[in-house]
Amino acid sequence: MYLIFTEDDGWHTDQLKEAFTNNNKEVETAKINESSIIIDGDPRIIFEGKEILLKNIDGAFVRGIPGGTLEEVCFHLDILHFLELHNVTVYNNTVCIEKSVDKVRTSCILNANKIPTPNTYITSNIKDLKKFRNNFSSELCVCKPIFGSQGKGLEILNDDNVHPDYENLNNVYYIQEYLKHPEGKFVDWRLFVINDQVIASMTREGSSWINNVANGATCKPFRPSDEMVKLAVDSSLALGMNYSGVDIMLGDNGYTVTEVNSIPAWKGLQSVYDDNNVAESIIDDFLRVCKGSRNC
Ligand SMILES: Nc1ncnc2c1ncn2[C@@H]1O[C@H](COP(=O)(O)OP(=O)(O)O)[C@@H](O)[C@H]1O
Ligand SMILES: [Mg+2]
Repeated sequence: MYLIFTEDDGWHTDQLKEAFTNNNKEVETAKINESSIIIDGDPRIIFEGKEILLKNIDGAFVRGIPGGTLEEVCFHLDILHFLELHNVTVYNNTVCIEKSVDKVRTSCILNANKIPTPNTYITSNIKDLKKFRNNFSSELCVCKPIFGSQGKGLEILNDDNVHPDYENLNNVYYIQEYLKHPEGKFVDWRLFVINDQVIASMTREGSSWINNVANGATCKPFRPSDEMVKLAVDSSLALGMNYSGVDIMLGDNGYTVTEVNSIPAWKGLQSVYDDNNVAESIIDDFLRVCKGSRNC
């Protein structure tokens, strides 16, 4: 049987369950923050009162990792590692989830792989924060929570908002150059990559500078250039993703990658993409990877 770790039983989980059913595969859903593990001669996981031997799990699809204390987040990732140690395919794989939930790590990896990404300054030291802020004296800069998603907690720092939301940031300050679209639009692009191929893309256009679909951005169909496709595939490869949602923006120096999501949503994308069912494409790839790693 297959497992979906999910926090919500909404549209995405329904789409995934349908894709499993269409492939005649048995699937169960579990909340990772309500799951426990037993490390003994019969390694197993417990969720909703059910004890499942790891050897009976054919693969685990990760649709959600909730926030929490450092210990909780580490434990949830430990559960995924535990599965992988017992040859259960975890999709996206645990290491790439670890790399991408942390915006600092993602920026470092993109930069080290020579993939254009905005100039970013990170510190947990208030003195350096002040120094970094001075670098942007005449320009805007963006401050992001390093474990954030869906555009939550992002701020523009300027003369009206000099200090970031210290409490929300837990003492790590990720300050990035603000990318201004040459035509003043609030636009970015999401390229969806599965197994190192861009399968679907969209433009997101917001009424404010935060263009996430969760923030009300409008999705439009989009056909990416070869340059953008290469950026998306290179980013996905650099982070070692099985599949990913790559965010690309346009700044003064051309296209640049702002984020590589290992647990991307695709409801907005599917609404403007008729060629294929995205969930089916993901699950086809997931089952292919599971088949490669153990007999199922
Ligand atoms: N450096 C930037 N300059 C201008 N806008 C940005 C910048 N970084 C992010 N944004 C806007 O904020 C949104 C969310 O940022 P992102 O880094 O993708 O974080 P999240 O994990 O919250 O999605 C982006 O989709 C984009 O609209
Ligand atoms: Mg994003």
